Amino acid sequence: MKKIYLAPSILSCDLLKLEEQVRLVAENGADFIHVDIMDGHFVPNLTFGPNMVKALRRITDIPLDVHLMIERPDDYLQAYIEAGAYILTVHQEACTHLHRTVQRIHQLGAKAGVSLNPATSLRTVEEILPDLDLLLIMTVNPGFGGQAFIPGGVDKVKRARKMIEAVGKEDFLLEVDGGINEETAGPISAAGANVLVAGNAIFNQPDIVQAMHNIHAAARSYQTVQA
Ligand code: DX5
Ligand code: ZN
Repeated sequence: MKKIYLAPSILSCDLLKLEEQVRLVAENGADFIHVDIMDGHFVPNLTFGPNMVKALRRITDIPLDVHLMIERPDDYLQAYIEAGAYILTVHQEACTHLHRTVQRIHQLGAKAGVSLNPATSLRTVEEILPDLDLLLIMTVNPGFGGQAFIPGGVDKVKRARKMIEAVGKEDFLLEVDGGINEETAGPISAAGANVLVAGNAIFNQPDIVQAMHNIHAAARSYQTVQA
């Protein structure tokens, strides 16, 4: 059985309890902390900047999975990597010279990810796939936490997993983001996703640790049934 990584998204944290909640998930099975950066242009919402990444770096050793939902990401790669991003993911839709952007992320010392909006075809990353460490399939239109999972994501993840196998990439991270919860974690993991981002389904629950365990268990049990 392949490992399923959990990446709680701090977008749904109680910001006044940020440190406490990040420590809680870090000590109870989170593999990454997912940090959503929004600029009010690429997506209709605003969140954090490099200072947030720097602050998180001070309170946890867990790798920071930084998701840039911003225009002109090239202007900010260095700032986020110097702040402590372990994985830096840009949107295909925001990058004219995606190959150059990916090269630059690697040169700066981070893992490189590319994200696709729900309406963007997998074909747009076919050429760059061999150069990536992570592919992020959005299962909602990015911008907000707590939205409903778009069902077409399951088939897209299946096709993405086939493409990844075809280029022979071991330990590749196929991440899904948006509407992941106890119900959707199973089918999406069975389809081949191995990094599950979840915000609302973790931080807006009465018991954060239990919620994480339930998502993890759902993903694993579904894999067993499918095996
Ligand atoms: C959405 C963000 C997500 C968000 C997911 O634009 O990229 O990471 O936090 O939130 P949930 O899990 O609540 O759908
Ligand atoms: Zn995200």
